[in-house]
Amino acid sequence: MSDKRPIGIFDSGLGGLTVMKEIVKLMPNENIVYFGDTGRVPYGTRSREIINKYAMQDEKFLLNNDVKLIVAACGTVSSVVADTKHSLPVPFFEVISYAAQMAVKATKNKKIGVIGTSATINSGSHKNKILELDSTIQVFTNACTLFVPFVEEGWISADDDVVLGMVSKYLEPLKQSGVDTLILGCTHYPILCDVISKVMGDGVTLINPGEALALAVKQYLDDSDTATDDTTACYDFFVSDKTAAFEKTAEMLLGRKIDYNQVKQVDIDKI
Ligand code: DGL
Repeated sequence: MSDKRPIGIFDSGLGGLTVMKEIVKLMPNENIVYFGDTGRVPYGTRSREIINKYAMQDEKFLLNNDVKLIVAACGTVSSVVADTKHSLPVPFFEVISYAAQMAVKATKNKKIGVIGTSATINSGSHKNKILELDSTIQVFTNACTLFVPFVEEGWISADDDVVLGMVSKYLEPLKQSGVDTLILGCTHYPILCDVISKVMGDGVTLINPGEALALAVKQYLDDSDTATDDTTACYDFFVSDKTAAFEKTAEMLLGRKIDYNQVKQVDIDKI
C-alpha cells in the first residue's frame, strides 16, 4: 500500500539539506518535511544531554507533522542517539550505520578515516559501528571544527589557497595514516568534497553518509511497500530562526533554490 505521508528530516541547521538532496535524487516523488534548528545551531560543540534534548524536540515536531519516517540528517545527533534507547512510533534512520557499512565495503587496505564535529568524533560512534562489522579494520579520526563555518561562509573552492590550507591541516594526519576510505561524517562536508579529494588524492574513496542513508530509506520504502504514489513531490521547510544568510546557504547545500517566503519559522521550545 502506498503511503503519501512525508518523510521527516531534521538537522541542527541547514546542513541536513545535503542529505535531503540525496533523498530527492533517489526518491523524487516523496513528500518531505524538513526542520532545521537554525536558532540553536551548532549542535556539534554541545553536551550529549543537550543534543539528546534538542533531538527529542525536533523529532516531536516532525511527528506532529504526520511523517511516515524520521531521518536524523545531523551527524552529531546520529552519533549521540545511536547508543541511546530511542523509541519512536515511526521508523528512524540515522547517518552513522549506513555510512559505516558503505565504508567497510569500500576499503581495500582496511584503514578507514572518519571526520566530523567534536561531538561526533568524541562519541566514537562510527568507529564502534565499523568495528562491529569488521574488528580487523583500523579507524583513524579527526574533528574538523572549521569545516562548517567555512562552508557556511561559502569558502569551498578547491582553487582557494586558504580553503586548501585549512582542509590540509585537518586531513594531513589521516593522509599520513594511509586510509583508503574517508567518511564525511558531518552534513556540511560533502560540499567540500572537491577540496577533500584534492588533499587526500584520487586513491581515497569519500563516503557521503547522505547517499548511503538515501539508499537505505529507499530500500525500506520498497520492502514495506510504503513509497508514495504521488507523481509530484511537496517540500515543506521549517526553521527555528529565519536568518539573512538562509537563501544563499540553503541553495548551496540543497543544490536548488528554496522560496524564502515559503519557509516557516517555529518556536521549537513550545512544541
Ligand atoms: N549538522 C551538524 C552535523 O552534521 C553540523 C553542524 C553542527 O555542529 O550543528 O554534525
